[in-house]
Amino acid sequence: MATPKTTYICQQCGSTSPRWLGKCPDCQSWNSFVETLTQKQPKGLGQRTTTSSKTPSLLSQITASKVERIPTPFDEFNRVTGGGIVPGSIILIGGEPGIGKSTILLQIAASLSLSVLYISAEESLEQIKLRADRMNVTGNNLSFLSSTNLEEILETIREYQPKLVIMDSIQTIYSMNMQGTPGSVGQVRECAQQLTNLGKEFHIPIMLVGHITKEGIIAGPKTLEHLVDVVLYFEGEQTSQFRVLRGIKNRFGAIDEIGLFQMSDQGLMEVKNPSQLFLPESQQAKAGSVIVATIEGTRPLLVEIQALTSKTSFGYPKRTTAGIDLNRLSLLTAVLGKKTGVFLENQDIYINVTGGLTIKEPAADLGIALAVYSSFSNKPLTQKLAVFGEIGLSGELRPVHHNLQRLQEIQRLGFETAIIPKPATPTKPFPNLKIYEVTNLQQALEIIR
Ligand code: TYD
Ligand code: MG
Repeated sequence: MATPKTTYICQQCGSTSPRWLGKCPDCQSWNSFVETLTQKQPKGLGQRTTTSSKTPSLLSQITASKVERIPTPFDEFNRVTGGGIVPGSIILIGGEPGIGKSTILLQIAASLSLSVLYISAEESLEQIKLRADRMNVTGNNLSFLSSTNLEEILETIREYQPKLVIMDSIQTIYSMNMQGTPGSVGQVRECAQQLTNLGKEFHIPIMLVGHITKEGIIAGPKTLEHLVDVVLYFEGEQTSQFRVLRGIKNRFGAIDEIGLFQMSDQGLMEVKNPSQLFLPESQQAKAGSVIVATIEGTRPLLVEIQALTSKTSFGYPKRTTAGIDLNRLSLLTAVLGKKTGVFLENQDIYINVTGGLTIKEPAADLGIALAVYSSFSNKPLTQKLAVFGEIGLSGELRPVHHNLQRLQEIQRLGFETAIIPKPATPTKPFPNLKIYEVTNLQQALEIIR
């Protein structure tokens, strides 16, 4: 068989070249050439088999069968994917190296009662076996292949016809038809495209692992997002045992859910009652500590925000945050000074969200401001108090969404007091919860003073 030809195409302007060029002679952009196959594939090999039609169809005349799914034993995984793995779908699982992608996939693969082919291009079979033994997983329908060669992999899938394929990882395999090294944009795209085509042809779901680094997305899973059906990112700090599985794209469901996991010495475990995990053990209030009701996906989650203020010894005051946006802290510090007279110009401020969690929603504002005030005044807040609310530039407290779920979670976990923004419609009473509805930060401070 003749080796297919490849050309290099500039990703910025589409200019082509038979060789790789560092700078595009047409649009002058740097490092934009990507190796691409030019020869048409012979029939049957890598052809998309989604039925195409020549004539347009009326929406009312299109019939769609109900999407069946393969549920995994992880409810948290099913929640994020919208119920499980859809046969024939291509799922990309991205995340930093060492976050636990191989671990969760091995656990899922071992627990299914259908034939799974786990292709590892990173670890030897012995390494996988050692890991499986350590995690105590046995899978009667689970087979492994250690290979880095795309053509060999495609051949094996054709012959073996598994019901699920796991490709770990897409950056470590290469196609012999291309010159680029494994992990180069051209290789990653070509390999993912070929696997996708095969998966669609035989209706085999394929899970692709893609490494992503904090700094760069070069040749990373980002270049594949348009190609696959589902994109999941596995996030977390290496130093913390918590892991968050986040849906970025899902052609078969919503993407507003997250899955929470905890890394143990026996692999990943689901976090069933997340709020309890992120809360401090003792309910004793400490200066600088505030419990905030936040929403992750559609789920309420209570987390502790800690603040520490200390007098600046020289120069500019320092502001450091972990788990919240630094600019948000600057803004809240300014509002505290201007609108409530709590001046912090000569104070270093440190903020930490415990458990390694990152809170992106502005509903944490009130919690951050109160934590800073509590540390600054060295005064613990009321015991069993939880808060939420967005703070505006004029010090006003703005209502946030999911009021009810947040309050329910606060009550469920035994908190007795809540400070929240005054909602547009009156909140229904909670029997065991004293709710303060406030319209600005000043009022909130008066309650805790
Ligand atoms: P891994 O799944 O290999 O990460 P990835 O495939 O995303 O690169 O996870 C590796 C880390 O997880 C490693 O630092 C060890 C840790 N780990 C545990 O803590 N417990 C376990 O049971 C396993 C298998 C791994
Ligand atoms: Mg791995």
